[in-house]
Amino acid sequence: MDQPRKLHIKSFGCQMNVYDAQRMVDVLTSQGFVETASADDADLVILNTCHIREKASEKVYSELGRLRVAKDEAARDGRRVEIVVAGCVAQAEGQEIIRRQPAVDVVVGPQSYHHLPQLLAHAKTHGRALETEFPVEDKFGFLPEPSRDAIRARGISSFVTVQEGCDKFCTFCVVPYTRGAEVSRPVTKIVDDVKRLADNGVREITLIGQNVNAYHGDGPDGRPWPLGRLLGHLATIPGIVRLRYSTSHPLDVDDSLIEAHRDLPALMPFVHLPVQSGSDRVLAAMNRKHSADDYRRAVERFRKARQDIAFSSDFIVGFPGESEQDFAATLALVTQISYAGAYSFKYSPRPGTPAAEIRETVSAAVMDERLGRLQQLIDSQQSAFNLAAIGTTVDVLFERAARNEGQIVGRTAYLQPAHVMAPPDIIGRVLPVRIENLERYSLLGTLDAPQTGPESPAPSAMSTGA
Ligand code: 5AD
Ligand code: SF4
Repeated sequence: MDQPRKLHIKSFGCQMNVYDAQRMVDVLTSQGFVETASADDADLVILNTCHIREKASEKVYSELGRLRVAKDEAARDGRRVEIVVAGCVAQAEGQEIIRRQPAVDVVVGPQSYHHLPQLLAHAKTHGRALETEFPVEDKFGFLPEPSRDAIRARGISSFVTVQEGCDKFCTFCVVPYTRGAEVSRPVTKIVDDVKRLADNGVREITLIGQNVNAYHGDGPDGRPWPLGRLLGHLATIPGIVRLRYSTSHPLDVDDSLIEAHRDLPALMPFVHLPVQSGSDRVLAAMNRKHSADDYRRAVERFRKARQDIAFSSDFIVGFPGESEQDFAATLALVTQISYAGAYSFKYSPRPGTPAAEIRETVSAAVMDERLGRLQQLIDSQQSAFNLAAIGTTVDVLFERAARNEGQIVGRTAYLQPAHVMAPPDIIGRVLPVRIENLERYSLLGTLDAPQTGPESPAPSAMSTGA
């Protein structure tokens, strides 16, 4: 019998790419491929790329250089290795990839992963293939159902795409061009996915979309449902104990979302709400369509609904024309909000975006210096947030055995990793943990109550820990 062909996917960038990688695995396992953890023994290597910042796309070319050497070596041993470039660099620079790297067999944009088998077949018989068209068919309609094994491999926590693309056109961002117009999946499809995941042991769902709170998928009543309503419905599905969503836009924070945070214990009080800058002048140049005060008000609405809510954000420093005064406004906003964590990036001009045309740039030295100051402030807030957990008892959803023998690791409501010594049957349960220590970003603690013996719930029972 033929050996199954081995497939390795390396994903860069956002959660959407992590999810898309799973979709590609689903498509290709139905064609007889098996996944392998290492690129070295793979017959098919897929680079699932990110185009959001310059560094991200440069990494792709250096990775391809390494893969080319491996491919040539394998060919000398009589083994054929195929290389696929997927993701947003493929979408944006497909022709350029084909031109720059002859070792690439297939270039495929995020809208066309369902065509991977045909593209690979084409590459084999006719030579290299490129597909980066936006399809006319439903973006979400064509994907195969993942196998039970594939779902089980997803463990306790899983992403589910509910929305793709973006209509906001922030002037620095490639997403509206690489991922296309904003589209929402219908409610019933999402509910079916979540039920199937829950039946296979998944306990936490993170709904993802480039602008997830713009969600307005068709409900079973024929009317569009906002994200808050969808979350409320998903919270009733047996087995689902935690819900999250990412990434949100401050303008699309509607009452349904605020009410969901007020009413749903399963909805975790941790919101990734990017603001990019604290200066109204820069926000206007970014075409964010909101002011710093609009953002502050959005944060206040969440806080009023759920007092224990915490925030993370994204920031860009050195946007064209950003003055020291603009940057000071960003620091002031960060100081005022106080984040549990945040990502900050140096602005990088993306070809084809309006901001790339602005001539008034910020020097590399100034950008470095501002990034350093911002990161220091964010780090100090993150450390304070993590330290504050010490001595408290928090709910942890346990996910897997940790590297240290006998330890199990899970996550708090705020996605902090938390380690305890415990038997593996706590995996999949939410249990209260007394936090005793912090090691870098990980919390260390002990289970609040003994978990064995006749009094304790059966391993399959779910506790919300409340
Ligand atoms: N330069 C730097 N950072 C960027 N981001 C998006 N585009 C750019 C760019 N051109 C950042 C934003 C966004 C995050 C995903 O990446 O902060 O929220
Ligand atoms: Fe990009 Fe702005 Fe859309 Fe976010 S909201 S994906 S930053 S265009």
